[in-house]
Amino acid sequence: MALNSVLTYAHALLKQAVGPGETVVDATVGNGHDTIFLATLVGPSGRVLGFDIQKEALKATETQLVLTGQTRQVTLINDGHEHLKNHLTADQQIGGAIFNLGYLPGGDKQLTTQSKTTLEAVKQAINLLRRGGLVVVVVYPGHPAGRLEQDALLTAVKALDQQTYNVLQYAFINQIHEPPFLLAVERK
Ligand SMILES: C[S@@+](CC[C@H](N)C(=O)[O-])C[C@H]1O[C@@H](n2cnc3c(N)ncnc32)[C@H](O)[C@@H]1O
Repeated sequence: MALNSVLTYAHALLKQAVGPGETVVDATVGNGHDTIFLATLVGPSGRVLGFDIQKEALKATETQLVLTGQTRQVTLINDGHEHLKNHLTADQQIGGAIFNLGYLPGGDKQLTTQSKTTLEAVKQAINLLRRGGLVVVVVYPGHPAGRLEQDALLTAVKALDQQTYNVLQYAFINQIHEPPFLLAVERK
């Protein structure tokens, strides 16, 4: 099918924007699927910073990285993504970032991403982008915290200056139950 799922399309966009040797961010590591994807994109000479507030999630991801031989280029950080810029040097830029919002499927729903910290982290990631770099955010508006994130993020990204950023919303508009959608911000 030509119309990719939201997550598949998020990866396809990052694949176009990010190359080997780059520094990128997985803002919500969870089970590590996006971390491993990014580690493959940037290769052994690149760097992936992966954030999660759940130690258990990072442990499980570490195991996957060992199994796939990709520990070298990944730093897993047990900290909120709203502290992203504290983990980079002042002049460092990033080629891309992914936010897969919400809670871990099958995990504790209380440990979901929250609009205030999500907005702060997304803004930081956008400010860290090199030219041509891309931030992708998968938003799940079908639960209360996700609805707040949707509102905060749409307001913020719609206001980004079009001279500096391309902003895309990718959404399936005929699906029931408020399906996830993608926001992508590219620095020109
Ligand atoms: C939908 S899951 C991510 C799925 C993941 N990308 C994957 O491939 O499996 C969202 C994750 O965000 C984490 N999270 C919640 N608040 C966070 C925060 N402030 N900073 C970093 N991670 C956070 C949760 O612990 C959860 O693991």
